[in-house]
Amino acid sequence: MPGMDIVELRSDTFTRPTREMIEAMADAELGDDVWGEDPTAISLQEHCAELFGKEAGLFVPSGTMGNETALKALTNPGDDVIAESRSHVVLYEHGAPSVISGVILRLIDGPDGRLPVGSVRDMIASANEHTSRISLVWQENTHNASGGRVIPLEHVREVARLAHAGGAKAFIDGARIFNASVASGVPVRAYAAEVDALSFCFSKGLGAPVGSMLLGTQELIDRARIIRQMLGGGMRQVGLLCAAARVAVDTMVDRLAEDHENARVLAEGFADAAPGSVDPSAVETNMVYIDLPGRDVDAIVRSMWADGVRVAALGPTRIRAVTNKEVDRAGIQRAIASFAGAVGAAQPVAIAG
Ligand SMILES: Cc1ncc(COP(=O)(O)O)c(C=O)c1O
Repeated sequence: MPGMDIVELRSDTFTRPTREMIEAMADAELGDDVWGEDPTAISLQEHCAELFGKEAGLFVPSGTMGNETALKALTNPGDDVIAESRSHVVLYEHGAPSVISGVILRLIDGPDGRLPVGSVRDMIASANEHTSRISLVWQENTHNASGGRVIPLEHVREVARLAHAGGAKAFIDGARIFNASVASGVPVRAYAAEVDALSFCFSKGLGAPVGSMLLGTQELIDRARIIRQMLGGGMRQVGLLCAAARVAVDTMVDRLAEDHENARVLAEGFADAAPGSVDPSAVETNMVYIDLPGRDVDAIVRSMWADGVRVAALGPTRIRAVTNKEVDRAGIQRAIASFAGAVGAAQPVAIAG
């Protein structure tokens, strides 16, 4: 409907830059970053390295490029990489690990997105001179497909120790590591201390328009810089984007708690409207997954869109809502009311057999 306020809950990637970010972009000191001469990029990389307790950082255009650059920098073609089977790198990067790095992903199903320690141990222990080399163990925190679950620090540590004991490296795809940190109270540098390298995104809940950061040793980042160039991710006056990213990391972290609280309220409202469709106690950060087997999910999503509430249908039985800075508590209440109306109206689907 024209003029209707939209409640955008499909993803936290829909967040738009704040006024302060735009002003910082306008004022940013710029140079050619492919020549290593953009002062704003250099300063952001140093700042993030310091924040995470790593030697160096590299600004990349996206979380996907951060992941794929790291993967290539940390492995050799033919190596094996252990990852949880629903990780972003497995499901949503279009086979890039095999195309770009020539690695084989060894997948393990992990409840709540956690790589099961026993399975990781067995996989590493079963490697010998006849098998491919397991060179990397990949964790994702928060874990998107499991509903934004936080991987606890002790778990990250245990898995990373197994990797290291087996001669492999450990990595965190921390696209939403600040959500994990705010929800758990664990500083990001504590997660970072357990692994050889990690990446995180400025362009999700933190609200910057573009960009991610890869962090690790200076040696790794030197290698990653060449790979980024190979992938076409070297950018010229990139300080323009880094200026917004700097505001994101400096000013937008603490408010993630508000998104988490909104997600909990949303989950409770959805659970009241459709009992059993969501477990509010499993909502730890900003993601709410609603499972509606036997219901016409497309009709429910269409009805919510007609109310101006944008949620995403993920497959035939699942809906996703991700809270973010663009949606306040009134928007959350609108989403609950819209969902309640939609599930009330939608007819159950006959399930054959
Ligand atoms: C866990 C995780 N890693 C990586 C990415 C990729 O980020 P981008 O969309 O910036 O490539 C996403 C995007 O949603 C994600 O959820």
